[in-house]
Amino acid sequence: TTVDIDDADYELDGHADFLSKEIHEQPAALRRVLAGRLDARFATARLDGLRLDPRELRGIRRVTFLGCGSALYAGQIGAGLVEELARIPADAEQASEFRYRNPLVDPETLYVAVSQSGETIDTLAAVEELQRKGGRVVGVVNVIGSAIARQCGAGMFLHAGPEVSVASTKAFSSMATSFTLLALLLGRVRDLSAAHGSRLVEGLRRLPDAVETALQTSDEVAEVARRYADARSMFYLGRVRGAAVAREGAQKLKEISYVHAEAYAAAELKHGPLALVDAQMPCVVVVPDDELLAKNVSTIEQIRARGGPVIAVTNAELPEGLADAVLRVPRLEPELDSIILGVPLQLLAYHCAAVLGRDIDKPRNLAKSVTVE
Ligand code: G6P
Repeated sequence: TTVDIDDADYELDGHADFLSKEIHEQPAALRRVLAGRLDARFATARLDGLRLDPRELRGIRRVTFLGCGSALYAGQIGAGLVEELARIPADAEQASEFRYRNPLVDPETLYVAVSQSGETIDTLAAVEELQRKGGRVVGVVNVIGSAIARQCGAGMFLHAGPEVSVASTKAFSSMATSFTLLALLLGRVRDLSAAHGSRLVEGLRRLPDAVETALQTSDEVAEVARRYADARSMFYLGRVRGAAVAREGAQKLKEISYVHAEAYAAAELKHGPLALVDAQMPCVVVVPDDELLAKNVSTIEQIRARGGPVIAVTNAELPEGLADAVLRVPRLEPELDSIILGVPLQLLAYHCAAVLGRDIDKPRNLAKSVTVE
């Protein structure tokens, strides 16, 4: 698939800023990342750009995602999906740490370099280090012709269109969607059933519409932002499918609103952060409708027992009055939860930044892509 980019991509199109535009472009971006890649007949994904035949796919014993910033958090979502669907070990590592620590490079690992710009110096250097040691690396990149895309020579383009705002949104959700495809493909050459594969293919087909619906929380999120944007700090909490997206949500808030935020796996709360919870510490809790629902409900009760305000982002039915604010999104397949639940988190950062009058597209001290050390 090729995508024509024209000048309209660089216009605001009635939006106040590019971040708003790019957040709202996500349904279209996800349609493009999925285009031609869903194979309903065999209940799998078609990712010819990886240049891996079924025997090679079968020989992969581990997947390691490498990236920086939002690309790293997307990689953490990817690692969870690969483990869940393909049942092989998977992890995500900061490209900078990888390149500097004389890594063990394993010939049976598939390394996935993740980058919106394709120009991030640490991610590029990690790719070069891997290739020097004979590692197998593919790129998941948005910008065609970029350094990382060329260096990898195989992989997946995101086709998200130009991302102008420094904070990544549509590229992030496109990355997570592309990793769902990768995990589906790796699963289907192993033990993932056709029935499960079909459910995911159908879920992915409906994903852009679900994200469109999730975007309709924007006015509600703006109201929540007016209530809490003056906080000095916020916690973001999630478990398993909600954990990596909570980290990305906290990052987004810090980047564009300059409100401090920290993300924790929810069970870690009692091992330290709970000491900081009081009426001045809003807690954003990501609550997927999964087997951990009761645990997340109890986390919310524990926060509120200490007077902490709770903003729940969920696709479940929560008990009436459980949280101070509930942001509800649609539910498809559980594997797609983090993508859909991530949308109100982007909107929350956006609206907090707007309430505080920040320079939304160009936050202080940050660059869109870090190409020098
Ligand atoms: C910078 C940007 C982030 C981005 C990161 C990785 O820090 O401010 O928004 O996530 O670089 O960029 P990449 O282009 O490699 O995805």
